[in-house]
Amino acid sequence: MTDHAPAQYAGPKRVLSGVQPTGDLHLGNYLGALVKFVRLQHETPTFIFVADLHAITDWQEPSKLKGQVREIAAAYLATGLDPKVATIFPQSAVPEHTELTWVFNCVARIGWLDRMTQFKDKAGKHKERASIGLYDYPVLQAADILLYKATHVPVGEDQKQHLELTRDIAAKFNHDFQAPGFFPLPEPLIQGPGARIMSLRDGTAKMSKSDPSDYSRINLTDDADAISQKVRKARTDPDPLPETADGLESRAEAKNLVGIYAALAGVSVEAVLREFAGQGFGAFKPKLADLAVEKLGPIGAEMRRLLADPAEIDRILTDGAARAREIAQPTMAEVRRIVGFWNS
Ligand code: TRP
Repeated sequence: MTDHAPAQYAGPKRVLSGVQPTGDLHLGNYLGALVKFVRLQHETPTFIFVADLHAITDWQEPSKLKGQVREIAAAYLATGLDPKVATIFPQSAVPEHTELTWVFNCVARIGWLDRMTQFKDKAGKHKERASIGLYDYPVLQAADILLYKATHVPVGEDQKQHLELTRDIAAKFNHDFQAPGFFPLPEPLIQGPGARIMSLRDGTAKMSKSDPSDYSRINLTDDADAISQKVRKARTDPDPLPETADGLESRAEAKNLVGIYAALAGVSVEAVLREFAGQGFGAFKPKLADLAVEKLGPIGAEMRRLLADPAEIDRILTDGAARAREIAQPTMAEVRRIVGFWNS
């Protein structure tokens, strides 16, 4: 070790993630995010928020925003996040997120943000008309993560670049302010079943709430009929299911449906193929539909129950925000001192 080796972050392991309250949650969010959160909460202190500050980077109807936040919270709870175990809160209820974002705005470089592909995708052709918030979105995300000194962030593949930016911001902050090891360099948690759930209409496109076709996705609030119908109409090929996972490689739609089955059942793709090899989709789809209804039906029902009387959700979110602030405030107080602000 040299004299100048930076001190490593030595704090506790913490998991943090969030979902934006824009549009309905679907099977991809469920398997790729919510199920993982539920599993992680029992292993590591876990912070899961509803990203309403991120949501307004695009116009959100003010009279609807709280309802959208409640809906994501209901999905968290219905999937099995336990508010006694995990800290569940609305991002906007913890003002330190925005305060830390300002400091990070002065750490991050324009060149770093110019490389962000999600901004390019979302802003489209007219980027001069996008909000500055949309451009700054990844810096707010870095603040979300580092405010809690989170070390592990369960996200989809598409968020990898934002995690790299978060690490760059953490490292530059630690370096510029001579605060070695102050912020951790967090890692994304991407692998695992459900890492990539694709559209039911096109096995090469991610299942997405912005796809114009509702048949491309299964929403968490779909009833049994809708779920079955969407599975029945899902695009496939005429061949029987193969013996091994290799046999799915050039069959995007087949691979997706088998992957969904495996993730919902909590078994490996190989195990699914051992059961269904040689059978066609005429036999496989009804089994998949039954499984999806069995797993998602109770979640939709629990979401509807919670949303019918939101007092319980509101109490959980208010309590979660208070607990989140117990971590966020001391971090922000340290940041103020490190930066040299007046109120430190
Ligand atoms: N950008 C994330 C997404 O679209 C949502 C998000 C906001 C997030 N802040 C975060 C995820 C912090 C993980 C950590 O999926």
